[in-house]
Amino acid sequence: MLPKFSSKVFLAPMAGVSDPALRLQCKKFGAGLVVTEFTNIHSIVAKEKQLKENQKTIKEFIEYSEDERPLSVQLFGSDLKVLEKAAKIVEPFFDIIDYNMGCPAPHVTQQMAGGALLQEINLTRQIFTTLVKAVKKPVTLKIRLGVTDANRYLFKDIAQIAEEEGIEMITLHPRTVNQGYSGDADWKMIKELKEVSNIPIIGNGDITNPEDAKKMFDETNCDYVMIGRGAMGNPFLFEQINDYIKTGSYNHYSFKDRLVSFFEYLYLTKQFKIKFVHIKGQAMRFTKGMSGGSKLRSKITLAKNIGELEKIIKDANN
Ligand SMILES: Cc1cc2nc3c(=O)[nH]c(=O)nc-3n(C[C@H](O)[C@H](O)[C@H](O)COP(=O)(O)O)c2cc1C
Repeated sequence: MLPKFSSKVFLAPMAGVSDPALRLQCKKFGAGLVVTEFTNIHSIVAKEKQLKENQKTIKEFIEYSEDERPLSVQLFGSDLKVLEKAAKIVEPFFDIIDYNMGCPAPHVTQQMAGGALLQEINLTRQIFTTLVKAVKKPVTLKIRLGVTDANRYLFKDIAQIAEEEGIEMITLHPRTVNQGYSGDADWKMIKELKEVSNIPIIGNGDITNPEDAKKMFDETNCDYVMIGRGAMGNPFLFEQINDYIKTGSYNHYSFKDRLVSFFEYLYLTKQFKIKFVHIKGQAMRFTKGMSGGSKLRSKITLAKNIGELEKIIKDANN
């Protein structure tokens, strides 16, 4: 059974972006569910073996904190034996196991994983059966429409199979794999999926402000919305959407507020081993759209450690 969610607005998994500190911050601002960056099932199995030898758990590899709960872990990879092992390894630590069938990155699709699986109907069914059998925790799925424009309705077949095999919730990002991030997310497809599904549907794609989120709920009847790029450097968006849906209005935040919230993010990173290059990436995103932002970002690029980064942002904030 799915856990209870404190709001209908979720943070999307984003490799290199939705690290445990950003997830905590988004949670604090009202995200109802957060999802880890996707993780390769082969790395989970290999790491667990190493960690076990030092009496450590997979938590050292996929970092998180209790305050993120309910917390979903996202897996990718299609070797059924490894998938079963990996799911069992992560199960005790997470509340939901999410499976990635949408990633368009060639290094993922070339290993028969991510979005490439949308056209492998038989293997897909086996993946769902394996996962649902392997764990007692709820298993959910994240998909795109199809691989090419010609098979952009594959998501309907996949969703039906998923439901038959016991998947409990589906996120649809309505673009094809070949589209990458070009064009618009086709929200009509979320509506179509919702009409034929008996499990909750999460609508995802191109929400950047509270009005977009309300529009997606109204137009598609989806159960939840999921925000990716719109939340980058902008954790306020969760609060704004929740308020807008409840009251019709929301607080506006200045660029100064954003910089302050970057320091909060930085503070949260201290309890995790997040790579400095990723923290620098976050600093770039928190300064997006600011006047003088590009000058600031060229300074950020040169920062060699957290101390230097802090100083640059502090100076910009004065
Ligand atoms: C930098 C980046 C990394 C992403 N990593 C993942 C991932 O690990 N797993 C996944 O399912 N989707 C991933 N996505 C896709 C997002 O979860 C989301 O489906 C997509 O960005 C569309 O939503 P948006 O328009 O709100 O950004 C990623 C997207 C971006 C921009």
